[in-house]
Amino acid sequence: MIPADVVFMPESPAHDPAIEHINEEAFGPGRFARAAYRIREGGPHERALSFVALRGGEVVGSVRMTRIALGEGRALLLGPLAVRPVHKNLGIGRRLVEMAVVAGAKAGWGAVLLVGDEPYYGPLGFSRIPRGRVTMPRPVDPNRLLVREIVPGAAAGLTGEVMHADLAKPQEPARAVA
Ligand SMILES: CC(C)(COP(=O)(O)OP(=O)(O)OC[C@H]1O[C@@H](n2cnc3c(N)ncnc32)[C@H](O)[C@@H]1OP(=O)(O)O)[C@@H](O)C(=O)NCCC(=O)NCCS
Repeated sequence: MIPADVVFMPESPAHDPAIEHINEEAFGPGRFARAAYRIREGGPHERALSFVALRGGEVVGSVRMTRIALGEGRALLLGPLAVRPVHKNLGIGRRLVEMAVVAGAKAGWGAVLLVGDEPYYGPLGFSRIPRGRVTMPRPVDPNRLLVREIVPGAAAGLTGEVMHADLAKPQEPARAVA
């Protein structure tokens, strides 16, 4: 049960220092070497699809979403997700994931990818991407490459190397064939 004094809201620039601190605490300096971090370096994240949890005015949890490209496919990358240790196991992480996915759905996205623990994300609707279908800029355990479809069948269109969507070639408009 999430305590009544926990407030959820879309992220704003004012939250940035606290989010950085939470991610440092959760993932340490090794986070900069992670494949997902490398992708996120390619451009900005989506503030409107990223959420924080506050308790007593303090940021205690954060989830971010980033637009990604895989060949012609487009999707969202969820992460980092982190909750401060003393506020864990209250349902905050689960709620943040759900809020981010619902916001992605409202914005018209078809699928959300992430690199994470299947035992945690499986019950939240994420499942393994078939081995070899998606590659990351740095090695990742293929069992940790997960996807949640928002639009049924959307994951099938996601193949190839994942990069920040801003680094992908602009998609050509469909041309009429004479
Ligand atoms: C993972 C994390 C975000 C979960 O946040 P949270 O607010 O504690 O999560 P919730 O309260 O929604 O869920 C807690 C449940 O998930 C379980 N859980 C937490 N981490 C888990 C993991 N890595 N694998 C499997 N289950 C996990 C807890 O045991 C608990 O189970 P219960 O409900 O049966 O008691 C938080 O533990 C964290 O910040 N961890 C460090 C950073 C991290 O690993 N982030 C995720 C990878 S991107």
